Formats: sequence, C-alpha cells, structure tokens
Amino acid sequence: MTRLPRNAVVTGASSGIGAAVAERLAHHGCGLLLVGRDQARLDAVAVRTGGRAVVADLRNRAGVEAVCDAADGWAELLVHGAGVGAAGPLAETPADVVDELLAVNLVAPVQITRTLLPTLRAAHGHVVFVASVAAIGVAYEATYSATKAGLRGFADALRVESEVGVTTVLPGAVTTPYYERRGQPYHRRFPRPVSPERVAEALVEAVRRDRAEVFVPRWLTVGARVHGVAPAVFARLSRRMDRRADTPAV
Ligand SMILES: NC(=O)c1ccc[n+]([C@@H]2O[C@H](COP(=O)([O-])OP(=O)(O)OC[C@H]3O[C@@H](n4cnc5c(N)ncnc54)[C@H](OP(=O)(O)O)[C@@H]3O)[C@@H](O)[C@H]2O)c1
Repeated sequence: MTRLPRNAVVTGASSGIGAAVAERLAHHGCGLLLVGRDQARLDAVAVRTGGRAVVADLRNRAGVEAVCDAADGWAELLVHGAGVGAAGPLAETPADVVDELLAVNLVAPVQITRTLLPTLRAAHGHVVFVASVAAIGVAYEATYSATKAGLRGFADALRVESEVGVTTVLPGAVTTPYYERRGQPYHRRFPRPVSPERVAEALVEAVRRDRAEVFVPRWLTVGARVHGVAPAVFARLSRRMDRRADTPAV
C-alpha cells in the first residue's frame, strides 16, 4: 500500500461524490484544491475540509485553464469528479446537451490531465477518473455512456504511457443530486443506489493500493466481464432488464 499524496485537486467538489471524496481526503490530511461552479456550496466544502475553492465552468476552455493555473506545480493527486448526465432516446437529445456532456465529462478531464501531467509526473502522482458503469453501455444514456467509455479508454492508455498512477472508478447508482439535475429519477430495481461516502472510501482505497479499476459496488465487475467476453449476450440481457425496469424499484 502506498501513502496518499499530500495535495489533491478534486473537480465536482461542490456536490455528491466529489464533496465526499474531498471530505475523505481531508480526513487523511490532504491539502485540497476544490473545483465547482456553485460558489456557496463549494465554500461550504472548503470550510469543512480546509481546502481552497476555485470556481470554474468546465464546459469551456477558460474554466479548464483556471483549474490548471491553480494546480500547476502543486497537484499530486487529480480526481476528476465533475460530471453531468442525460437520459432519453438519442434522437430526442438536444445538440447542446450532447455538447455539454462531451465537454464536462470527457474534454475537460482530458485537457486538465494533459496540462498537469508534467506536475503529476514530477510528484510521482496519481489521476482518478470518476467514470460510471455506463461505460459498458446503458440504453437511453448513449452520449453519457460514450463519455464514460471515453474516460476509461483514456485512462487505460495513460496508465501504459505515463509514469503516474491511474485509477478509474465505475460506480453504479449513487444517492446524489445527479438524477434530479439530469431531470429523470433513478428507476431501476438494481443496482441499488449506494452512498457517495461509500464511493469516496473505495476511491481513496484504490489510490492507496494503486488499483487500475474499481466498480462500486464491486459485484458490478461481473457485468463488465460479461460485456467483455460476449457483448451481444450483454446487450440481450440489458434489453430484458430495461423492460423490467418499467416496474418501480422496491
Ligand atoms: N450519481 C450517480 O448515480 C453516478 C453514478 C455513476 C457515476 N457518476 C459520476 O460521478 C460524478 C459525480 O456525480 P455526482 O453523482 O456526485 O453528481 P452531482 O452531485 O450532481 O455532482 C456533480 C458535480 O459536477 C460539477 N459540475 C457539473 N457541471 C459542471 C461544469 N460545467 N463545470 C464545473 N463543474 C461542473 C457540479 O458542480 P456545481 O454543482 O457547482 O455545478 C458538481 O460538483 C459524475 O462524473 C457522474 O457522472 C454518478
């Protein structure tokens, strides 16, 4: 087990998983640079964790640069927690929603990692991507799935080509404002939602153990394995589960 880095950048720190990760890292004595858009919520996390708040909109280049400028020469751990969701048939998804998902979930993490890589290398640092089990393809979340699969591929390449630690965290459903924000509640029977604190605990443990990937809950790994060896079987099972998902969760 390795020691945790001393300084960490956490995007998406103003809410949900990112806020829980910030609290957990603060508990371990990490210095924090907290990134989000909502000043009041970000300041509240900064007070609880002793971190420094950086308000930045990751939809645009200026926001990405603000994060990189603040973290340059300092960051040892980079946690990409910011993300947005969208649900519905692809043909009915507005173009600007597709643009936002690609920008926040994929382009921003790629650009921030690219810019901060020399800093992370010098610190023998670590990058964490909060992807999703949707990386293996979830119906009616095609664009979201694409961004998370993109992160996973990016992480896999980076793990081989760089000298920094790289972890991808793939949660199932998590009890955060995410579903309310995307405008459609979670309606599946399983996976049952877990708390953001549980994801944060798994994430920090994965960094300490330098794990490549961690699914939360862990049994979701089974779905990923089936997808890996038999994607057509996986698609058939997913279709069947989607029909059952019309029944409300108990
Ligand atoms: N909840 C789930 O079931 C679930 C499952 C799997 C994966 N995930 C992933 O986990 C990550 C965190 O989601 P969450 O569940 O914690 O949701 P959340 O509570 O809605 O938090 C999302 C975070 O992303 C930030 N964000 C969104 N758009 C941004 C933008 N344009 N610029 C900068 N920051 C932006 C938000 O900042 P502001 O609030 O300040 O705008 C917030 O801090 C996401 O990548 C999500 O895809 C979530």
